[in-house]
Amino acid sequence: MKMNVKSSISLFAILIVSDLVFSSFTPHPHEDQADALITWKTSLSHFNITGALATWNTNTTSSHTTPYSPCKWQGIVCSHNGRVEMIQLGNEGLVGDLKNFNFSSFHDLSELQLSFNNLTGSIPPQIGKLKSLTYLGFSENKFHGLIPSTIRNLTNLLFLKLNGNQISGTIPNELFHLSQLQFLYLDHNQLVGSIAPSIGQIKSLRELDLSFNKLSGPIPTTLVNISILAVLAMQNNQINGSIPEEIGQMFQLRYLVLGSNQLVGSIPPSLGQLIFVSMLSLYDNKLTGPIPIELAHLTALDYLDLSSNQLTGDPRELICALPELIYFNISHNMIEENSSLIYKGNLPKPPRLFRNGECVAANISRYLHTFNNSNINKRNCKDIIIIVLFSGTFILLVLFGVLLKRNTMKEIKSKWEGQ
Ligand SMILES: *[C@@H]1O[C@H](CO)[C@@H](O)[C@H](O)[C@H]1NC(C)=O
Ligand SMILES: *[C@@H]1O[C@H](CO)[C@@H](O)[C@H](O)[C@H]1NC(C)=O
Ligand SMILES: *[C@@H]1O[C@H](CO)[C@@H](O)[C@H](O)[C@H]1NC(C)=O
Ligand SMILES: *[C@@H]1O[C@H](CO)[C@@H](O)[C@H](O)[C@H]1NC(C)=O
Ligand SMILES: *[C@@H]1O[C@H](CO)[C@@H](O)[C@H](O)[C@H]1NC(C)=O
Ligand SMILES: *[C@@H]1O[C@H](CO)[C@@H](O)[C@H](O)[C@H]1NC(C)=O
Ligand SMILES: *[C@@H]1O[C@H](CO)[C@@H](O)[C@H](O)[C@H]1NC(C)=O
Ligand SMILES: *[C@@H]1O[C@H](CO)[C@@H](O)[C@H](O)[C@H]1NC(C)=O
Ligand SMILES: *[C@@H]1O[C@H](CO)[C@@H](O)[C@H](O)[C@H]1NC(C)=O
Ligand SMILES: *[C@@H]1O[C@H](CO)[C@@H](O)[C@H](O)[C@H]1NC(C)=O
Ligand SMILES: *[C@@H]1O[C@H](CO)[C@@H](O)[C@H](O)[C@H]1NC(C)=O
Repeated sequence: MKMNVKSSISLFAILIVSDLVFSSFTPHPHEDQADALITWKTSLSHFNITGALATWNTNTTSSHTTPYSPCKWQGIVCSHNGRVEMIQLGNEGLVGDLKNFNFSSFHDLSELQLSFNNLTGSIPPQIGKLKSLTYLGFSENKFHGLIPSTIRNLTNLLFLKLNGNQISGTIPNELFHLSQLQFLYLDHNQLVGSIAPSIGQIKSLRELDLSFNKLSGPIPTTLVNISILAVLAMQNNQINGSIPEEIGQMFQLRYLVLGSNQLVGSIPPSLGQLIFVSMLSLYDNKLTGPIPIELAHLTALDYLDLSSNQLTGDPRELICALPELIYFNISHNMIEENSSLIYKGNLPKPPRLFRNGECVAANISRYLHTFNNSNINKRNCKDIIIIVLFSGTFILLVLFGVLLKRNTMKEIKSKWEGQ
């Protein structure tokens, strides 16, 4: 017993001594990360001198051997074991590049947020070393060059925000292997080429923004496999072909924005199944044919822009059926510009206008110069609604009848087969 206590005490002493010796000869476990961050800071040609990087300092009054840690620096979040877990330097006036950022030092990093700075150069392939990354935010910088194929290694990524840069080349197929990805923003870059069908592999995607690039080719029908996609924005590209009918099966869609492309053919009536869509924008394409009345089922719709196409027909019935509609633009189509179709007056809901995906308040009346609902009085509206309701009920009854008949047939058939 005595021996045991004695030996454990001496073991303890040895541990303390060795720890002291150890710490005076080798850097503290946090110092490699602190050094890596200081090296990068030093390489920057500018940063906000009253911002987070002002606190990045290893020059303390204590002795040289005292361990230092970046965990108390602003913009740095450490995990409980003292390793850097997040680097959050959005809008810090950073000017410079990532050449001197030592990616090997941050295997545990889960968040790298550098949005709204002036970082230049390309995204280094070494980014693939940040295997624990869930959030990569490089939005609104001046990054150029290609998206590195090593992005494939970031298998834990949930957010990938590269929007608002000068990134060029095609979207690498490797990106579509990031099966956890929920938010993919590549908009406002210089991306070219077509969108590979393998994009349908990112089944957990909720928001996809590819707008304001130079993408061409068709809208991949494989998108329908991303059943939880809520935002699909591809406007201002050179996407061609027709709008796939299958989009009508993406039942979770809220925003469908395909304006300013080269889309041809008619608007698929299946879009009328997207009952959660609040924004549908197909402006400035080459769409033909009538506006499908099925769009009247989009009761959540508050923004509908079909302007600058070659659409025909009378949209008044549709407008009657869309109670939430605030913004509606069908100008520059082949709809007869009867004076009775000129809108004058205010829509019932507070007007809203979308700019750059942001919802900003606006007096909408001056934007709505294509539709005059002053001669659709309540009776007319009611009439149309009643007609729709009646025909809806009729269709339902017919369907019900057909189903009933089919079920009875099935029962009879199975009975026969059972015997
Ligand atoms: C610099 O950082 C300070 C503190 O975060 C902030 O108040 C200031 O607006 C920033 N200046 C610029 C130019 O971003
Ligand atoms: C480091 O600290 C010493 C003493 O506090 C000071 O004289 C020196 O200028 C500091 N160096 C830097 C780079 O801040
Ligand atoms: C980036 O630099 C431009 C001028 O080169 C400046 O106008 C702009 O404010 C800078 N942006 C940021 C976020 O520092
Ligand atoms: C980068 O960090 C790793 C691991 O901390 C280290 O081994 C390597 O020497 C560093 N590279 C440079 C260029 O500092
Ligand atoms: C990506 O992962 C592969 C396989 O795990 C590895 O061989 C490669 O070095 C990694 N690339 C980077 C940049 O980390
Ligand atoms: C959806 O995915 C399944 C299997 O994952 C595949 O067989 C099918 O072809 C895909 N559908 C489309 C339209 O890509
Ligand atoms: C779409 O554009 C690509 C490239 O610009 C072209 O090769 C292709 O023929 C076009 N397809 C259609 C249907 O217009
Ligand atoms: C335009 O007015 C003419 C004549 O009044 C009418 O026959 C036609 O149906 C109207 N067109 C639309 C789209 O309302
Ligand atoms: C809207 O329609 C009403 C009734 O038909 C008409 O009096 C009015 O002039 C039209 N408004 C415009 C701007 O044409
Ligand atoms: C909306 O703007 C129009 C002119 O653009 C103006 O006549 C009207 O009074 C405004 N309505 C409201 C509610 O501000
Ligand atoms: C309606 O669409 C036309 C053509 O796309 C555009 O010029 C006009 O500015 C739009 N109106 C509003 C209010 O956005």
